[in-house]
Amino acid sequence: MGNPIFHDSSPNNESENPCLDDVVKQVLSRRKFLLKSGGSAAAVAFLSSGVARAAQALSPTNLIGFQAISIATDDAIHIAPGYTARSFVPWGTPIFSSGPGSQWRGDGSESAQDQARQVGDNHDGIHFFPLDNSSREGLLVMNHEYSTTVGDGYDQYLTLFGKSPTVAKTVEQVDKAINAWGCSVLHVRRAAGDWALVKDSKYNRRMTSGSAMVMTGPAAGHDLLKTKADPTGTRVLGTINNCGNGYTPWGTYLTCEENWNNNFGTRLSQGDERTPAQKRYGLAKGATGYGWEAFHDRFDYKKEPNESNRFGWIVEIDPYNPESAPKKRTALGRFKHENAAYAISKDKRVVIYMGDDERFDYIYKFVSAGKYREGDRANNMDLLDSGTLYVAQFSAKTAQGEGMGDGQWVELSMSNPKLVAAGFKDLADVLVHARLAADAVGATKMDRPEWITVHPTTQEVYATLTNNSRRKSGQEDAVNPRADNVYGQIVRWREAGGDAAALRFDWDLFVLAGNPALNAKGDLKAGSPNVTADNMFNSPDGLGFDKAGRLWIQTDGNYSNAKAYAGMGNNQMLCADPKTKEIRRFLVGPKECEITGLTFTPDQKTLFINVQHPGERGNSHWPDGGDAIPRSATVVITKDDGGVIGS
Ligand code: FEO
Ligand code: CA
Ligand code: CA
Repeated sequence: MGNPIFHDSSPNNESENPCLDDVVKQVLSRRKFLLKSGGSAAAVAFLSSGVARAAQALSPTNLIGFQAISIATDDAIHIAPGYTARSFVPWGTPIFSSGPGSQWRGDGSESAQDQARQVGDNHDGIHFFPLDNSSREGLLVMNHEYSTTVGDGYDQYLTLFGKSPTVAKTVEQVDKAINAWGCSVLHVRRAAGDWALVKDSKYNRRMTSGSAMVMTGPAAGHDLLKTKADPTGTRVLGTINNCGNGYTPWGTYLTCEENWNNNFGTRLSQGDERTPAQKRYGLAKGATGYGWEAFHDRFDYKKEPNESNRFGWIVEIDPYNPESAPKKRTALGRFKHENAAYAISKDKRVVIYMGDDERFDYIYKFVSAGKYREGDRANNMDLLDSGTLYVAQFSAKTAQGEGMGDGQWVELSMSNPKLVAAGFKDLADVLVHARLAADAVGATKMDRPEWITVHPTTQEVYATLTNNSRRKSGQEDAVNPRADNVYGQIVRWREAGGDAAALRFDWDLFVLAGNPALNAKGDLKAGSPNVTADNMFNSPDGLGFDKAGRLWIQTDGNYSNAKAYAGMGNNQMLCADPKTKEIRRFLVGPKECEITGLTFTPDQKTLFINVQHPGERGNSHWPDGGDAIPRSATVVITKDDGGVIGS
């Protein structure tokens, strides 16, 4: 998401975990690297090893077939020659042809009831589930992360109620916001070359921040999840702040609850009565900007202290069964989930990689207890309810070959004596307070982990670390090598023995984003050698591989095009070759948007992405043009010759 309140006002992780700096300095003093520009030793090592690979890095690739495009700063989509991009299912699109919400009026006058039957706001993660393995018909499932707000306290909804920023002052207005968030399941079909929504399909469905869902796994039914409205601790209303996504090989969608903390506040007291856990998770000291707690007691943590424990999970949705209740999978831990990327271990267990998008927060993985059986949906459907959660600890070591360091996965369960010593009572306590458990075991504090993706054949794992302007000089480490990191980086790792369930890994930095036009070669702010004046970008966020192993990178960064960001333009999508490290710009979005979410049809000939919050500062009319209010929307991308995207 791009609304600055969420990341700039949320607290850092202030736990005491050591940075790797000391380890790095020991290693590097042995290697006698020259330190330049005040950069950390680790980063100089990275650049030094990168220089050796620079010739390879900058050579053209056979994997990427399109011609790179320049930056843009106007209010339009730009895409590589030979491709067509067109907006699709924007916010407010009716999904039924009659009854409430069957018209989009364009003036924000739709009611809460209307909104519950229309495509939601601020599109984010997305996945295409084929019907009968078709590449021409399927279920497009997507997240609607939030509604953009502006003003002091970010309490004015920018477009939800029309052209004038509006504070929600009635329960009807708050309920419209609640119904604009969540997820959509949309039946889509390609006919006469173009994709269309199949209105009134039995599959069409909205799951909002008020829809009935269930809690499953080790924490379900625990006292920590019980509320006045749900003494069983198993039934919850809604999913909130659904950011990135994942999917499973058994055909379900994983939606990830990220900045849900911004929806919980209190209007009962002016003091700060938050618990340490509520502070660690970033709940507001008083009232929230969204104002939901003014009309629904469950969002006021003084009135209902446990309701917020029921958010911050990964939720599994079966798009093929419109009657199914979404399941919040507590075994995967509670934090500010970005996305979820699966791999299958050598012994067929399911591994889910996950990032917690906060400054100085962590990367996790879950390994299922049960085994995946291809084609046996009944066996697979609840695999995510039982298993082990781990958190990543990155270490620096003298680089050998491709490796820039190693690391280990530290278990977060009552089998870990550190968690017993830290006072955790049971597994549910660990999972509900996964951030605190990770603090207690000394996990590595990262530069805001965003999306993670797994290479389709090598199972190498890539993760975006979007930026961290609050990392101070002296806090650099090998994997987060820059203070005041305004550009971000992508780290990748290889599990020991090529087994996704392994407890050790080797890692290196795939790219350090930067601005080589402004900064001298060797300055860490110039970025790694695969960043040039022609392809530079900041704040990598969305990330995903296609079947051929092209790595697609999406940005949610500073689009001011000024100062440190000069020459980077609007947010964009790029494509990288994992072997050569070459990066080419593929698409640039309209003004003040972020580009996020990506999914391909099985034949790889249609790519769906999302444009989120165009005009979040009030300067876009995309996609409708004229003086229309801007709308988040999906973008359908096809190659004009009918070929594979990226080829
Ligand atoms: Fe919703 Fe971390 O992006
Ligand atoms: Ca994101
Ligand atoms: Ca982001």
